[in-house]
Amino acid sequence: MVDQSVFISIEGPEGAGKTSLINALAPELRQNLKRPVLTTREPGGNPIAEGIRNMLAADTSVNMDARTEALLFAAARRQHLVETILPALAKDEIVLSDRYLDSSLAYQGGGRRLGVDDVLALNEFAIDHVLPDLTLYLDLPVEIGLERINQQRQSKIDRLDREKLDFHQRVRETYLSLLERFPDRIVKIDANQPLEQVIQAARVELSKVLEVES
Ligand code: TYD
Repeated sequence: MVDQSVFISIEGPEGAGKTSLINALAPELRQNLKRPVLTTREPGGNPIAEGIRNMLAADTSVNMDARTEALLFAAARRQHLVETILPALAKDEIVLSDRYLDSSLAYQGGGRRLGVDDVLALNEFAIDHVLPDLTLYLDLPVEIGLERINQQRQSKIDRLDREKLDFHQRVRETYLSLLERFPDRIVKIDANQPLEQVIQAARVELSKVLEVES
C-alpha cells in the first residue's frame, strides 16, 4: 500500500457521473486506506476559485471571449492548486479532483476551438508541472450525457451545458485524443453502463496506483 500522496483527477462530459463516482469512492478509500482523502472540484474548491466560477456562470458572461474564458479557468485552476491541492499532497493525502487540466484542453481547446496546444501552453504556466498521477476519463456518447443532465439539472454552469451538440461532440473527441496523447496518465472508463459497474472499473484502476485490492 502506498503511503505517499496521490493525485487523481476525474474527467468527462456533462452527465457522465463524475460526482456520483467520487461520492462512492472517497468514503471507501478512507476506510480501506485509513488515510485522509480530499475531494474537490474545478472550477472552485476555495473562495477565490469559487468567485471565478461565479463569474464564468453569470448571465452577464454570455458574450465572454473564448480566450478570456480559458484564462479564467486557468486562473481558477492555479488558485485551486496552490490553496487546496498542493497543501493536501504535502500532507501525503489522496486528492480526488472533479476536473483538472484536461477539462480546459477538451472544452476550451476542442469545444471552443482554441486548440489543445495553445490551451496546454496557457495552462502550463498555471499548473507549473503538477499533473495528476492518474486521470479517470468517463466516456459517454454526447446525446446520452445531455439527456441525463436535462433530467437532473442542479447548480451547473449552464452556459457550457447549453452549447450545441457539435460543441459537446468536439469536447468528447478531444478527450479521446488526449487518451492517445497521454496514455500513461489517462485511463478511459465506459460511463454508458450502470453506476456500480463504473465504480468497479474505477476501483480496478485506482488499485493500480494505490496498491490496494479492488
Ligand atoms: P459544473 O457545474 O461543475 O458541472 P460538471 O458536473 O459537468 O463538472 O460545471 C463545470 C463546467 O465548466 C462544465 O461544463 C465544464 C466546464 N469547464 C471548462 O469548460 N473548462 C475547465 O477548465 C473546467 C474545469 C470546466
